[in-house]
Amino acid sequence: MTQRRIFITTALPYANGAFHIGHIMEYIQADIWVRFQRMQGNEVHFVGADDAHGAPIMIAAEKAGKTPQAFVADIAAGRKQYLDGFHIKFDNWHSTDSPENTELSQDIYKRLRAAGLTYSKPVEQFYDPVKGMFLADRYIKGECPKCGAKDQYGDACEVCSSVYSPTELKNPYSTLSGAKPELRTSDHFFFKLSDPECVAFLKEWLDAPGRLQPQVANKAREWLEGKGDRELGDWDISRDAPYFGIPIPDAPGKYFYVWLDAPIGYLASFKNYCDKTGIDFENFLSDPKTEQIHFIGKDIIYFHTLFWPAMLKFAGAPYKVPSHVYVHGFIQLGGEKMSKSRGTGLSPLRYLELGMNPEWLRYYIAAKLNGAVEDIEFNPDDFMARVNSDLIGKYVNIASRCAGFIEKRFKGRVQDPALWQNDATLANIRNEAPEIQGLYEQRDFAKALRKVMELADRVNKLVDSDKPWELAKQADKETTLHSVCTRALEAFRILTIYLKPVLPQVATNIEGLLGLPELTWADVDTPLSDKNAIGSYRHLMTRVDEKQLDALFELPKESKAVTASTPHPASPAKAEATPNPADKQTITIDDFAKVDLRIARIANAEHVEGADKLLKLTLDVGALGTRQVFAGIKSAYDPATLIGKHTVVVANLAPRKMKFGMSEGMVLAASGDAPGLFLLSPDIGAQPGMKVK
Ligand code: 2FM
Ligand code: ZN
Repeated sequence: MTQRRIFITTALPYANGAFHIGHIMEYIQADIWVRFQRMQGNEVHFVGADDAHGAPIMIAAEKAGKTPQAFVADIAAGRKQYLDGFHIKFDNWHSTDSPENTELSQDIYKRLRAAGLTYSKPVEQFYDPVKGMFLADRYIKGECPKCGAKDQYGDACEVCSSVYSPTELKNPYSTLSGAKPELRTSDHFFFKLSDPECVAFLKEWLDAPGRLQPQVANKAREWLEGKGDRELGDWDISRDAPYFGIPIPDAPGKYFYVWLDAPIGYLASFKNYCDKTGIDFENFLSDPKTEQIHFIGKDIIYFHTLFWPAMLKFAGAPYKVPSHVYVHGFIQLGGEKMSKSRGTGLSPLRYLELGMNPEWLRYYIAAKLNGAVEDIEFNPDDFMARVNSDLIGKYVNIASRCAGFIEKRFKGRVQDPALWQNDATLANIRNEAPEIQGLYEQRDFAKALRKVMELADRVNKLVDSDKPWELAKQADKETTLHSVCTRALEAFRILTIYLKPVLPQVATNIEGLLGLPELTWADVDTPLSDKNAIGSYRHLMTRVDEKQLDALFELPKESKAVTASTPHPASPAKAEATPNPADKQTITIDDFAKVDLRIARIANAEHVEGADKLLKLTLDVGALGTRQVFAGIKSAYDPATLIGKHTVVVANLAPRKMKFGMSEGMVLAASGDAPGLFLLSPDIGAQPGMKVK
């Protein structure tokens, strides 16, 4: 079989927050596919980057008192712990705010301009005279023109559901400054998506068999034909200064809209990687053999199946149109959607901090993904049952019942392969390789894993009936014991190959146990040899403990929630009968070290509607990203005076769901018997994210 050359990406996350479980799911899906392809001997390059540009990031940086560059750099510094933590192995991680992206975006734009596919025209838009900037619809609020409801966004009313344009709002105001916006006109640049040549190309691109999942191709066709829920119009690709983005050539004060340079960031990260590794970027891309594949979520199909292929096509060689765009659904927790903005239900970092095995999550997510655009549900009970019964009860169980005998009774040597190489059960297990391979290729990991677990069941049944633990007690059954354990271990080896894309660390440990080099798919047909030294069996994986899941999803009782998230250091003590200081238990330094105290910068502070005691704080915790915390300090502080201050936050407190939203930590304050509440602040020089110890 000829080797494939594949360039794979996942959607680039906005650099304004830490990864949530939706990101991790996508990366796990792609990482499994990448590892699978590598095991086939294919050449694979897997890259990601932060999506750094745009007004929201510029505004968040300003609120945090940082330059946008420093702001996104801090976010980027927090990525590694997640990627390493979940065994997600990108070959490169870069940023759209990079020289490569500037060069490529400007190059692609110039080529589109030369092809006659861009034009400019005046656009009338709201302008904030105080901030001195044009306002995207999301930064304008006012009264609904239909029902008069106050504080409605510029596109639709949440009270009466009517849809309108921002210019129809009554008494509009800028949410950035509170100023009354003015209508102003400026020239915008457009990409002519409606050009007949463009439409004809996209039709053909969408129709290519196997390029897209059928429902994705259908959706894109509807948009293309103007029948869908969005109109096919030309695409406004420019934004006026001030904007954090890439300057448009020959157009002072104009920047590319973030969605233009974001997908080009895929190529920028790849180029950066090529420069580091000596791959010829242009040759690689223009090679017809190269496959370019994007894994994305269902919310960004429009950009990836219309604009992006059209931009690439009309920019011309070496750029190539995507070979495939593979779309997945969202991950929900107990039925509740954990979308980008609300996805705080399952904190990936908390999962890792609790010492939960990342390969449990990889397995569980893989067991749910079937290659279709369907949402999947994370159900804690199901998670525990699947991991414990499948991974431990079926798969690991085979090795734990047989490997020890090989080591202790047969000096770590399996039986002479001549005696078992034609074993029918082993042949059956091997013969499943092409089907399992096909399922991985189709991203139907759920079915692939079901197959593997059926095979594990079969092996376990044989072990159950052969009972090696009883054979081991009978002196005359030595050869039978050797044979039974050897066959079981060979079966386990093959199953390990089938599971390796999902469980890379477990597979590495097993390679060590079996004294084997890195297993590839082709090794299915290379049985264990009696020359291999089988090591001593150590537990390969522990069971999920319910307590870990309780800790992961810990939700306080509503009444406790406020005090638990308030900064009142005496809260826990006050809840008990006033303790006698002499009775206070001491703690060890290790106990203290469990509390992850960090310096946080209060990036924003605001009142919470309907809350008597709480303020909502947005904390910048450096590499740990931003956190939202509800703090019971309203009586003591005017929120405006807090913005920009540094304080101390308990960063590893389980997120708590409160009436007003999630609270992701606790800020510290002092109080005594006398009135007053005093937020802790560090000495000058302490930076967000620094540890307090
Ligand atoms: O939706 C998002 O999170 C975007 N940051 C995805 C960009 S994908 C690609 F185009 F960069
Ligand atoms: Zn209304």
